[in-house]
Amino acid sequence: MHKVTIDGAMSRIAENMAKVKYKIVVMSNKGGVGKSSTAVAFAALLSSRGARVGLLDIDIHGPSLAKMTGKEGVLPVSDGKAMDPVRVKDNLVMISVGSLTSRDDMPVIWRGPMKMNILKQFLADVRWGELDYLVIDAPPGTGDEPLSICQLLPGVAGGVVVTTGQEVALLDSMKAVNFLKRLGIRVLGILENMTDFPCPHCGGSVDLFKSGGGQAAAGKLGVRFLGRVPFDPRLLEAGDGGRLFVDTDPDAPAAKALAAAVDAAVDALQAGPGAAA
Ligand SMILES: Nc1ncnc2c1ncn2[C@@H]1O[C@H](COP(=O)(O)OP(=O)(O)O)[C@@H](O)[C@H]1O
Ligand SMILES: [Mg+2]
Repeated sequence: MHKVTIDGAMSRIAENMAKVKYKIVVMSNKGGVGKSSTAVAFAALLSSRGARVGLLDIDIHGPSLAKMTGKEGVLPVSDGKAMDPVRVKDNLVMISVGSLTSRDDMPVIWRGPMKMNILKQFLADVRWGELDYLVIDAPPGTGDEPLSICQLLPGVAGGVVVTTGQEVALLDSMKAVNFLKRLGIRVLGILENMTDFPCPHCGGSVDLFKSGGGQAAAGKLGVRFLGRVPFDPRLLEAGDGGRLFVDTDPDAPAAKALAAAVDAAVDALQAGPGAAA
C-alpha cells in the first residue's frame, strides 16, 4: 500500500476537511449497481432534512454526478486559487470530474499521479465550507481511487456498500466490506438495489437479481442491512434527465426505501464505532 506524502496539499486538505462533520464513502465492488444513484439520493435526502451536504464524485473514468444532478456543463467558478463547488439546490453542492470538462464524451486518460492530484484538489482546493456531510461517490471496485481517497481524507466516518442481490453479491459485498475494515472505516451497512424488477407481461415483478443476497451478506458479515430499493424506471429516467428522484417522486416505494436507508445509515453513524447490525 503506498503512502501519501505529507506536503502542502495535505495540510490544506486537513484544514478544509476539518470543517466537514461526517465524510461518507459510497462503494461497490462492481459498476452499474446503483452507487451513484444512491450517493445522489442520500445527499438529496440529507440536504432536504436541513443538513449541509457536499457531493463528491471521484469516479474519474465514469463520472456521473454532474449529469445526475442536472449540472452537466456547469463549470465551477475558480479564482485561480480555489473553486466553488456547483450548487445543486439549497444545502447541496457538488463537484465531479464531469464538472471540470465541458464535454462528457471525452474519456479521461490520466495516469496515477494526475489522478492523485485531482483528488487532492477536490479535497484541498474546493471551497466546501462548513458541511454536515460529504458524500463521496467512489468508482467501482477496491482499487486506486477509493484507496487514495481513503488515505488522503482524514477521518472517513463510514462507508455504505451498494450491491444487487445476485449470489455473487455476497462475495462482492465481502470485498467492499473488507476493504473498508482494512482501512479502519466503519461499515454503515449494505444496501441491496434494483430488487423487484417490473414485469410488463405479468403485471407483477420478477426477481431479476435474485433478491436477498444483500441481506444475506449483511447477516454473514455482521453489518447492518440498509434495505432493498426496488427497480423503478422513474429513478432511471430522473438520473438521465438530471432530476433528483427522491425530490420529484418522494412517495415512490424506491424513494421511501432510500429514505429508510438514510435513516439506518445515520443511525449507524451516530451509534459510534464498533456498533454492528
Ligand atoms: N433502483 C433503481 N431503479 C431503476 N434504475 C436504477 C436503480 N438504481 C440505479 N438505476 C439505474 O441504473 C444505472 C446504473 O446506476 P448507477 O447509479 O450509475 O450505478 P453505478 O454508480 O454503481 O455504476 C443508471 O442508469 C441508474 O439510473
Ligand atoms: Mg457511478
